[in-house]
Amino acid sequence: MLVSLRPAAAVAAVTALLATSVNAIPKVTRTGRYLYQDDGTRFYIRGIAYQEQGEVVASADNNFLEPSTYIDPLAIPDACTRDVALLKQANINTIRVYSVDSSLNHDGCMKTFSDAGIYTIIDLALPLNGSIARDAPSWSTNILDQYLTTIDVFSKYDNVLAYNVGNEVVLGDSTQLAPYVKAAARDIKAYLKSKSSNILVGYAAINGASGFRNVLADYLSCGSEATAIDLYGLNDYSWCGDSSFEGSYSATHTQFENYNVVAYLSEYGCISSPPRLWTEAAALLSSQMSDVWSGGIAFSYFPAASAAGQFGMVTISSDGKSVTTSADWDKLVTEYGAVTPPNSPLQSSAAASTYGTCPTASTTFLASGTTPPTPNEKDCNCLENALSCQFKPATANYSVVVGELINSGCGLLGQAGGSCAEIGGDGATGVYGRLSGCDPRVKLSYVMSQYYEATNKNAASCSFAGNATVNSAASAAAPAAATSCIASPSATFTPTLEASAVGPKASNTGTTGGSNSNTGGGSSGNSGKNSAVSSTDALVGVLGMAVVGLASAIWTLA
Ligand SMILES: *[C@@H]1O[C@H](CO)[C@@H](O)[C@H](O)[C@H]1NC(C)=O
Ligand SMILES: *[C@@H]1O[C@H](CO)[C@@H](O)[C@H](O)[C@H]1NC(C)=O
Ligand SMILES: *[C@@H]1O[C@H](CO)[C@@H](O)[C@H](O)[C@H]1NC(C)=O
Repeated sequence: MLVSLRPAAAVAAVTALLATSVNAIPKVTRTGRYLYQDDGTRFYIRGIAYQEQGEVVASADNNFLEPSTYIDPLAIPDACTRDVALLKQANINTIRVYSVDSSLNHDGCMKTFSDAGIYTIIDLALPLNGSIARDAPSWSTNILDQYLTTIDVFSKYDNVLAYNVGNEVVLGDSTQLAPYVKAAARDIKAYLKSKSSNILVGYAAINGASGFRNVLADYLSCGSEATAIDLYGLNDYSWCGDSSFEGSYSATHTQFENYNVVAYLSEYGCISSPPRLWTEAAALLSSQMSDVWSGGIAFSYFPAASAAGQFGMVTISSDGKSVTTSADWDKLVTEYGAVTPPNSPLQSSAAASTYGTCPTASTTFLASGTTPPTPNEKDCNCLENALSCQFKPATANYSVVVGELINSGCGLLGQAGGSCAEIGGDGATGVYGRLSGCDPRVKLSYVMSQYYEATNKNAASCSFAGNATVNSAASAAAPAAATSCIASPSATFTPTLEASAVGPKASNTGTTGGSNSNTGGGSSGNSGKNSAVSSTDALVGVLGMAVVGLASAIWTLA
């Protein structure tokens, strides 16, 4: 089906919608494990993923084919206007957006969707260095700042349902990353609370064996209200073709029966036998599953092709003006249009969440109960200014260089008898170095300074091929400066955004083109490959810790 919407026609469609719903979009909050609108009606997510695929560069360390660029779909008002009538027609009330650019203006799209009764679930991570990297995990000032800046930019909109602090960061073989995700959830919750916001904090998990999947779910929702996620998302592609609840979902459903916070499917829609029937939506949004689940996000509106098939349900014309829907889409419209999930339990009888003891580490779940501290920008800046040899990137695009230099710097430092322990961390032992929460640039300056000082402040030791300069104002040796500036290295506190955030730029005026590059599986995860990947490789060597990925290590320790 080809739906060609000239802007005027689209505006008319939205205006028509407005005529029947003049009230502001209801607020949705959590009571225990369920979501409710402010009139007490239970809220279910009839959602769709809404983000064009970024550029994917295939490589040996990009198994998930995660994109390295992105297009912010909430900064293209014409495209949102173009799409909103279709989304409404499909009875969709929530879109999930994986990457947004806080420097752009989102007013147009957010209003278009709000007026249409559509909520947004916004992932705070960005590709490459904007996420908690699997190979070089850290919960650090640069990522915290990015998250807080995005939250500040979106705080004025009334249709943000949740912020996700990560997507598929923790895999079955990297469960030691869970403490970083939990620390992110803790700090983002504290920040929202300090702003009197009750927008939900979520995480979107990869599906897998219950031995890690359910333990991770419990780990992220354990302890206390202040440290637990509000919203657990499961990316679940297990219902394929003409399956059934018993055939696909019942085991998972049973394992989440006693879960304490809201659960939903943050991605679903197996593509093994297209066109998809979307009969799982009927099960998910029925009394068969509503005790445990609050709906889900069908993947995906925009084209998202992979070896497994085409997950996208529409294609966009090359001028960005018209949308062609697929048989998949038509089926989703039918299924979402037919669901009537029960309005139960009543909000007044919904039990408050209880927060259990956190799971202890095991052979299938390595995460320590000790989470990383709150990243402290003031302390890290203090240290940066006090260091004797400072990283001065020759390019604004330093994210790759910084990883390479940490790697080579740690190599040199190791040979000089020093250690990179203070910039690293280990979620399995729960030991985090004094600088673990600092920006990679500060970590690099620290490594450079230690090396410079270990080689008698030989000028050549503070060059790094033109990437570093001597700071003649430095007064103390690097370790002493670190002890002095970062006096409470394990502190947790309510973070604030240092006043360096830049104002919004103009809206994106470009059109959203047709198909983008490929995505891997169904998941457009962006939790992936940090440019500082190699930094952990080096750290791993220095610390003799369990190796996460040594592919790019350029040196080894004896
Ligand atoms: C990622 O790196 C770029 C430079 O390449 C920098 O501008 C940006 O702030 C970095 N983002 C984070 C979260 O570190
Ligand atoms: C940044 O540098 C990387 C690697 O050097 C390169 O692949 C990428 O295209 C650069 N990005 C920009 C915006 O220049
Ligand atoms: C900085 O370091 C990078 C990575 O090692 C190197 O490629 C580059 O030549 C160095 N110098 C400058 C001025 O960027």
